[in-house]
Amino acid sequence: MLYEGKAKKIFLTEKDDELIQYFKDDATAFNAEKRGTILKKGVVNNAISAKLFQHLADAGIPSHFIQQINDREMLTRRVKIIPVEVVVRNRATGSIVKRLGLEEGLIIDPPLIEFFYKDDSLGDPLISEDHIRLLKLATTGQIEELRQQALNINEVLKPFFQKKGMFLVDFKLEFGLWSGQIIVADEISPDTCRFWDIQTGERMDKDRFRKDLGRIEETYQEVLKRVCG
Ligand code: TMP
Repeated sequence: MLYEGKAKKIFLTEKDDELIQYFKDDATAFNAEKRGTILKKGVVNNAISAKLFQHLADAGIPSHFIQQINDREMLTRRVKIIPVEVVVRNRATGSIVKRLGLEEGLIIDPPLIEFFYKDDSLGDPLISEDHIRLLKLATTGQIEELRQQALNINEVLKPFFQKKGMFLVDFKLEFGLWSGQIIVADEISPDTCRFWDIQTGERMDKDRFRKDLGRIEETYQEVLKRVCG
């Protein structure tokens, strides 16, 4: 094992440039102040991430994803993660509502990009492009690349989820450096996205855990069915 995070473990393989990403059922919120288990979450998030990375590849957007190995593991390229979380927002909810006092559910068009510093000891603070340069996390050109790739991914995923009856409210991406290229990495799942059912407005993501909305496992299974079924 190379690394264990809150929701995943990373394993080395025989190949220097490939890793195995193992998805756990562990769930955390509020910088791990709240902890729990969502039964079968790892299986759901592995399958959904695999499907979405494959869909992005079909649309010409590369990622670290190589192939799914089994129900909890995927084979990935070995990237050097850029410690910047890139958030795309199509509607206002979550931290932006608290921070800016926006109306819950406000449509954000064109979509908004935000950057957060991936550092648990600091609580993943919101940072500006100047902060990213100050901390030497990325260059001006790389920041522009992160922004453009995040917007492109949104343009591909928004209609994908629309067809499944879900509004892609917002999501968080992590990127990595791989042979001189910036590619999307980590996972794209109900842990890292917000989906609202188009018919009912029901929350279909990790907000059910964060906010104790109940029917957590059932909702993850429903998202799996809609995305991969
Ligand atoms: P936020 O509204 O809490 O800033 O969250 C924005 C998006 O980022 C939302 O889709 C959930 C996702 N997210 C993560 O993937 N990891 C995190 O640690 C947090 C706080 C949010």
